[in-house]
Amino acid sequence: MTEVIDGNAVASEVRESLTESIETLDAEGVTPGLATVLMSDDPASETYVSMKQRDCEEVGINGIHVELDTEAPAAELHDTIDDLNDDPAVHGILVQMPLVDHVDERRVLRSVDPMKDVDGFHPENVGRLVAGNDRYRPCTPHGVQKLLEAYDVETEGANAVIVGRSNIVGKPLANLLLQKAPDGNATVTVCHSRTENLAEKTRNADILVAAAGMPEFIDAEMVGDGATVIDVGINRVDADTDKGYELVGDVDFESAKEQAGLITPVPGGVGPMTRAMLLYNTVKAAGLQNDIDVELP
Ligand code: GUN
Repeated sequence: MTEVIDGNAVASEVRESLTESIETLDAEGVTPGLATVLMSDDPASETYVSMKQRDCEEVGINGIHVELDTEAPAAELHDTIDDLNDDPAVHGILVQMPLVDHVDERRVLRSVDPMKDVDGFHPENVGRLVAGNDRYRPCTPHGVQKLLEAYDVETEGANAVIVGRSNIVGKPLANLLLQKAPDGNATVTVCHSRTENLAEKTRNADILVAAAGMPEFIDAEMVGDGATVIDVGINRVDADTDKGYELVGDVDFESAKEQAGLITPVPGGVGPMTRAMLLYNTVKAAGLQNDIDVELP
């Protein structure tokens, strides 16, 4: 029988534990603060950022949201980031990607104080993660690890195949699963748009992670018997709904679930975990910046 992974339930557990960590910080007079910065009129990005702010409110994190005009010069974004870097009430800064075309994303990622980089995208934090000494794990890969752990999916010795090589998901997840650690120790294969004989590789996976941004392209033919299938995709496709679209993953759920042992749905799989791990990193950041030991889930 295939089991469907409940990302909402695992994310709720993470949030509940974090509420206790936030109380520890509160007792020391520290309220964790997360700043989100949006410079884009992409409707999906607007939705993500507002959900992140709502999450903060729910668990007792002080959320600050800055929205910049999409026509504003890049310098305005840099000034905003400088101010947030200097603000002691802000422990985490998240600049929602993608940014408008006239802004250099790499420069922006470098300009966030690495101690406040709760996305884990600053080169210093990327380097630390690759070296096995991570400070902030990027939220989606970390959320995937927590889901695997919650469902007792052993990574040690497993063949983990990741489809997608983005800086946000594929590359950091590959590095995390590769680490000499209980939630790593996997044999990792990273596939991408130029990979030959893709299905042959994905069928060999004990853990198959789809993170390529291609709607429903992983089907039963590409999934090994009993594999754990983790769908990171969130694609808006035209549909006859009130909104005019529906959300689908990178996995053709109905087809793949015939082969999988465990599978995440979209929505309700990885998405809520990404949001929960952002709260986790913000609480961690508040602890680190105030020299307070906080227990983390
Ligand atoms: N855009 C898509 N995913 C992410 C994420 O995890 N962080 C940021 N900052 N932007 C994103």
